[in-house]
Amino acid sequence: MIQRFTMGQPIETEAVPQKPAAVDFASFPYPCRVENGCFIFTLTLEKDDIVYGLGEAPRGINKRGWIYQSYCSDDPFHTETKQSLYAAHNFLMQNSDGLFIDFPARIVWDIGYTKTDTAEIRVEGADFDIYVIRQDTPAETVREFRSLIGKSYIPPLWAFGFQQSRWSYHNRDAVEGVIQGYEAADIPLDCVYLDIDYMERYKDFTINKEAFPDFENYVREKRAQGIHLIPIIDAGVKKEDGYSVYEEGREKGYFCKTADGKDFEGGVWPGIVGFPDFLRKEVREWFGAKYRFLTDMGIDGFWNDMNEPAIFYSVQGLQNALDKAASLKGESLDLSKFFNLKDTFMGLSNRQEDYASIYHLIGGKPVNHQKVHNIYGASMTKAAGEYFEKAFGKEKILMFSRASYIGAHRSSGIWFGDNHSWWSHILLCLRMLPSANMCGFLYCGADLGGFNENATRDLVLRFLALGVFTPLMRNHSALGTRDQECYRFENPEDFRDIVQVRYRLIPYLYSTFRRASDNNEMIFRPLSFDYPDDKIARECETQLMLGDECMIAPVYEQNVGGRYVYLPEDMTYFRLSGERIKSQPLGKGVHYVDAALNEVPLFLKKGRSIPLCKPALRTAELDFENTEMITG
Ligand code: GLC
Repeated sequence: MIQRFTMGQPIETEAVPQKPAAVDFASFPYPCRVENGCFIFTLTLEKDDIVYGLGEAPRGINKRGWIYQSYCSDDPFHTETKQSLYAAHNFLMQNSDGLFIDFPARIVWDIGYTKTDTAEIRVEGADFDIYVIRQDTPAETVREFRSLIGKSYIPPLWAFGFQQSRWSYHNRDAVEGVIQGYEAADIPLDCVYLDIDYMERYKDFTINKEAFPDFENYVREKRAQGIHLIPIIDAGVKKEDGYSVYEEGREKGYFCKTADGKDFEGGVWPGIVGFPDFLRKEVREWFGAKYRFLTDMGIDGFWNDMNEPAIFYSVQGLQNALDKAASLKGESLDLSKFFNLKDTFMGLSNRQEDYASIYHLIGGKPVNHQKVHNIYGASMTKAAGEYFEKAFGKEKILMFSRASYIGAHRSSGIWFGDNHSWWSHILLCLRMLPSANMCGFLYCGADLGGFNENATRDLVLRFLALGVFTPLMRNHSALGTRDQECYRFENPEDFRDIVQVRYRLIPYLYSTFRRASDNNEMIFRPLSFDYPDDKIARECETQLMLGDECMIAPVYEQNVGGRYVYLPEDMTYFRLSGERIKSQPLGKGVHYVDAALNEVPLFLKKGRSIPLCKPALRTAELDFENTEMITG
């Protein structure tokens, strides 16, 4: 059962392609009130209730005991005290009672933080649709919700191959070095990423010709070698006279404005940029068609970034800070003056005042950015997705985005942004997977090995052993961090063992993915979905069900040779390493299982089988016909 409750005049987000007729608000099933222009409603939580959802968000699979915000945020510190990350995924389930709030501004979800037995949800506006979805089980509610929001994006098959990224491979030699490094170590690889430095001074849809001479031929040469080069596209367009994308955008009036109708200007990588008003169809068509500059050269994959949008500073904000600093010149700064000055500079990025000074044009009328903040990035991705589908058809172009809103799951995947090389972030990734799947995002994954800070060899191996199962399997790391490519570490054959397991599993993972998209199912499920009456399964936050056959339980601590695992039923424990397979039947219950650094732990339910193909260096070389079955 789905019921749609409408209040006011909701802004069209396109999250729901075909809206069911609204029912009388008087039958809204939760106590609610409107206060200071916000709509507030409460859910009563019983002691054993589990609250699922919110997609890419901090903390656990069970969201109880914290306060979250739907407000797309560029925040590279994914600590447990954060309330929001890059996405706004407004789907929540109390056991199997689902609700989706289709509303593009901020929502605050206090899930038993202020009062243990109450979830208070504050929608910061009074124009929205709320869908109440009721089914008997969480999985059925998810299926019903997903059928409401439409089928999930399916990338090309090669996007299931292993992908290597870094900020940055500054030039062609660096990219070549990576490909050769992988080849020399005999480690499979399908994609190499081009971060911002492939562009000419960070300008979208340009190539730094010195660093990447004869780019088009190079792209085609790599394609012939089975390697896809995947460039980044940032939301902001550099302000520069003579740069055609900027000049066109300015002349056509396509950039977001300030209250007085001037182009809003903010600083990002290239310096001052204009932000295309992706909420307008004609702007989406214009920007989407720009990707052709790269697809014409043989590029067939992209990652869209900085589209929350991230704003390092606004011109006005920076000027105010500089004025303040100048006014204090020569003064002896006491505690309050010093920290006030420091905070002024520290607070320059992603300021609420700056967001509040941006305007979009919707239906010919100016609308403040804060009212639509959460659909900005999704609209950028839609711009590209609409173009790709028109130009190439479905399943041809790889694309994933940093910011997202439900609806964007139909045209792209997501990655979980700038995580850290922390052991805890293996688990954070694991916990985001089922939550993202509930919200329709199937093609997703974290920066394996961790983005910020230096990774250790064992962390990268353990992270990869989880990444073997995530549809997006990409190793990515930040500028200034230790080299993190698999072949850079001692005994690269251990990395080969792990990555080869991924390739062996691609027939299974790909078909599981397709099925999940076709049938509106999840690839990864919390154990509580499958074993609702099993207390230990219900509380499990370190293992996931995968497809109908498997359970995964990655090792997530340093200096350990295995982990404790809970089996909710009899299963066989497989340790997969390259082409080697060890197996051990285990009964329902708790076990300590060994897993060496070069082994991928996988559990198969009793009597269930999955296919493994022979490993290959590229997905294109995989033989899907000749597989061996492993059976639990
Ligand atoms: C952002 C992205 C990161 C990228 C960097 C440089 O931080 O999240 O993945 O490497 O920008 O483009």
